[in-house]
Amino acid sequence: MATRGGTRLTLAIMFAMANLLTCAQATANYEVVPIPDNIEIKEGKPFVLDGSTTIVCTNDDPQLRKNATMLAGYIKDITGMDLPVSQGNLFTGKPQGKTILLSSELLSDNPEAYQINVTPDIIMIGGASPAGNFYGIQTFRKSIPVEKGKSIEFPQVNISDSPQFGYRGAHFDVARHFFPADSVKTYIDMMALHNMNRLHWHLTDDQGWRLPLKKHPELITKGSVRRGTCIGKDFSSCDSIPYGGFYTSAEIQDVINYAADRYITIIPEIDLPGHMLAALTAHPDLGCTGGPYELWTIWGVADDVLCAGNEGVYNLLDDVLTEVAEIFPSEYIHIGGDECPKDRWKACPKCQAKIVELGFTDDEHSSKEEKLQSHVMSFATDVLARQGKKIIGWDEILEGGLPDNAVVMSWRGAEGGQKAAGMGHDAIMAPYTHYYLDYYQSKDTENEPLSIGGYIPLSKSYSFEPYEGISPENRQHILGVQANLWTEYIHTFDHAQYMVLPRWAALSEVQWSDPKSRDFDAFKQRLSRLQDHYKLNGYNYSNRQE
Ligand code: ACM
Ligand code: ZN
Repeated sequence: MATRGGTRLTLAIMFAMANLLTCAQATANYEVVPIPDNIEIKEGKPFVLDGSTTIVCTNDDPQLRKNATMLAGYIKDITGMDLPVSQGNLFTGKPQGKTILLSSELLSDNPEAYQINVTPDIIMIGGASPAGNFYGIQTFRKSIPVEKGKSIEFPQVNISDSPQFGYRGAHFDVARHFFPADSVKTYIDMMALHNMNRLHWHLTDDQGWRLPLKKHPELITKGSVRRGTCIGKDFSSCDSIPYGGFYTSAEIQDVINYAADRYITIIPEIDLPGHMLAALTAHPDLGCTGGPYELWTIWGVADDVLCAGNEGVYNLLDDVLTEVAEIFPSEYIHIGGDECPKDRWKACPKCQAKIVELGFTDDEHSSKEEKLQSHVMSFATDVLARQGKKIIGWDEILEGGLPDNAVVMSWRGAEGGQKAAGMGHDAIMAPYTHYYLDYYQSKDTENEPLSIGGYIPLSKSYSFEPYEGISPENRQHILGVQANLWTEYIHTFDHAQYMVLPRWAALSEVQWSDPKSRDFDAFKQRLSRLQDHYKLNGYNYSNRQE
């Protein structure tokens, strides 16, 4: 006969077992960041992901196979389960046991589109291309709760999704402070988690040249180490600690390949004709005054720029841009064009002689010096066109006239992009008002790491309307949206991560998701689950959600 104590013990064991059973399972949530277009949950038995599940590709495209290996890695990181990737046996129409099927043959006008269909035995992740499949994998991965040691239930569902914009960018300034190749690769992983596909790599500036070129090794030997750095915001100070860094050619190639495996194109920037003190330090004869010059130890906009009346400048730009075009497979190369003061050119006999030679005069649209800058940008555009490349320039390229096919990167607000689109040029929106992520993300600046200033809370980054001020017929010219990370005050990669996360999450919904789904409170719910993935991957991020 059971005693009262014995009954209690049995109940306790049963309760513990039930608990164990429920604890051993977690349920996927498809409401990820960026939110997919359509999520149709269906009634019925879920797919239970456990160690017996196999990942299978439906064709032998090597990119799809890389995706499969990447997916297995994500699942292992999140759940601890080591799923086999069936490399040899293609799907024959009769899956053996539970299967995650990857395909790249979905019919869609958008190559980045994907669908996910979950039934009790098969999860089908179908992309319109291997890239589309990869974005399906990202959504799938983010839907998994980060709870090791549990099997995961996937409710039956049909998800269909495609991005709003083909250009989904993040910029990284490695000139003001240098970030080694491994950090850049982590930045790329972080971008992939947010469905981004363009890394704008700002490789040269007044404070350092980071890109090795075979024809001009002096740009690294003389232009990559500054004698020190100002302390905080005191430009009269200098810590006198030599600071520098550069990538090797092998590292550059490795980063390009690493990005390509994650469907990210690297767009290198050689900022010209301003922001060029690194090149001038190596070549003082290429400045209007002849120097001497040294790498800057402070921040801001330097008066010394390339002398646009000096033939040597054109020769150097020809060499540099030709080699850059050979290194980087990107269709676009960024040639800067921002913040080029004209004081030196106004006082320089060579620049003035060039202005006369070219017949430039001031008019109501532009000064003759602005036209001279436009001449330099056109020269650079022609060099790159010979290599089959097109250019992107900061919105200052609108001043003085811009080359055909030039893409305008709108940073001084959205106006530059609006104007460019109105003129029939393509544009990328990277307005400082929403996406300069070196700005504070909280009003509580005392308890934030030192920032350049400003205030861009998460809600502001979430609120950008890329098509505002653009007529419906010109919308096709808005290629996409980008956030910039300038690193004057960002010395460590931990700090860099803190500045972009979670504001990249907000950006990613502007870049990817249907604007009809924009809802800040719902986004914050989704973000809390994404943050579990940040933690899992060891990304430093801010908890500010103002
Ligand atoms: C810029 O922020 N100077 C493009
Ligand atoms: Zn000059």
